[in-house]
Amino acid sequence: MSTPTVPIAIIGLGAVADSHLAAYRELPEIEIVAVVDPRLERMREVAARVAAPGFTDCRQMLEQVRPRIACVLSTVASHRAITEQLAAAGVNVLCEKPIANRVADAVAMKESCARHGVQLMYGSSYRYLPAVIEARRLIASGVIGQVRLIEERGVVGEGADKFVPMSAAHYPEGTPGGGSFGLFDHGVHLLDVFPWLVGSPVRRVLGRGNYTGRAMQPEFAMLEHECGALGMLTYDESTVSSDLPWEGLFSHGRGWVNNAGFVGAVGQWTPGASFIRVHGTRGALRIFHYANRLFLAVPGEIREIPVSSGAAPEHFGRQMRAFVHALDHSLPAPNGIDLGISALRTLLHIYESAETGRWVATGRD
Ligand SMILES: NC(=O)c1ccc[n+]([C@@H]2O[C@H](COP(=O)([O-])OP(=O)(O)OC[C@H]3O[C@@H](n4cnc5c(N)ncnc54)[C@H](O)[C@@H]3O)[C@@H](O)[C@H]2O)c1
Repeated sequence: MSTPTVPIAIIGLGAVADSHLAAYRELPEIEIVAVVDPRLERMREVAARVAAPGFTDCRQMLEQVRPRIACVLSTVASHRAITEQLAAAGVNVLCEKPIANRVADAVAMKESCARHGVQLMYGSSYRYLPAVIEARRLIASGVIGQVRLIEERGVVGEGADKFVPMSAAHYPEGTPGGGSFGLFDHGVHLLDVFPWLVGSPVRRVLGRGNYTGRAMQPEFAMLEHECGALGMLTYDESTVSSDLPWEGLFSHGRGWVNNAGFVGAVGQWTPGASFIRVHGTRGALRIFHYANRLFLAVPGEIREIPVSSGAAPEHFGRQMRAFVHALDHSLPAPNGIDLGISALRTLLHIYESAETGRWVATGRD
């Protein structure tokens, strides 16, 4: 007798949905039972591709299909309403980052899921990237000593006139927004992953971020972790990248391209592959999270650390598998909503610091 598959619905069929679907194709234990998007043509195209019924509205889907898990991959501003509908119907939710635009929305999502007895897992997908996992293990082993500095820099633009910020459908007019490789939409990954890597929460922040409808400016955040480590994030898509063509590497994963998802091939030369630097008192790490390569530097030596295969977009599959495992064993979701709320709070504290020009403590909510 074959084991029953886990019925999954995909809500929101934009760029990231293709990557989730590609990863889920490799999981025999799940079955896509519905796809939902108000864009009729796109919905029909994906529904035909995955051979599942398509709907233009989540409520309509819930009248006919009862998935065990729904992946909320829609615009950020729609996460709350969709999650509340799913929770009321008894469906467990995996919600993409950022969890919501406002902390009040995220807390309402948490309460709604708790009230209806369903689990809400935060799409903390970087925690499933092999190079990031291995880097965390190395840091915990003490090989680089005490972490003092952890950084990501993304200055990847092609000039101000080519920069198109994310739409008001994700980030409403006048609220924190910006580019898809900016502080709010992308930096939120690092606000979650830096404390996880360093093993210490963020104590206070200083920085500034973009708003939908306002002139775009370079963004930054300084994060002081409780252990004293300084986190640095710098983003700008409104200038021109200074990367040199030979500053790349042969990728062991695929890279994210706006509106296209994860593209490229394993083994391909990748200029400008994004990375995280971690500097410790005895050594340093360079983590190419999507290219899935990891380098350890100690005085006088740099060597590559082998990393298991299964980089992007396969990390979405591992994330889903972890959720299914938790549900099957009546365990809490491995990356619960509180991680999403905490990352969102930190983000909004960065915006608050720009208003006051002062460091903002993160632990006072
Ligand atoms: N984990 C990652 O690496 C990663 C990468 C990219 C995007 N994301 C996140 O995934 C989410 C989606 O991003 P994207 O790049 O795919 O955006 P996108 O703009 O390409 O797609 C969003 C889709 O949601 C649909 N939508 C809007 N309202 C809806 C509703 N009420 N019901 C169903 N569908 C609805 C839109 O029609 C659109 O097709 C965002 O939260 C984003 O931050 C995560």
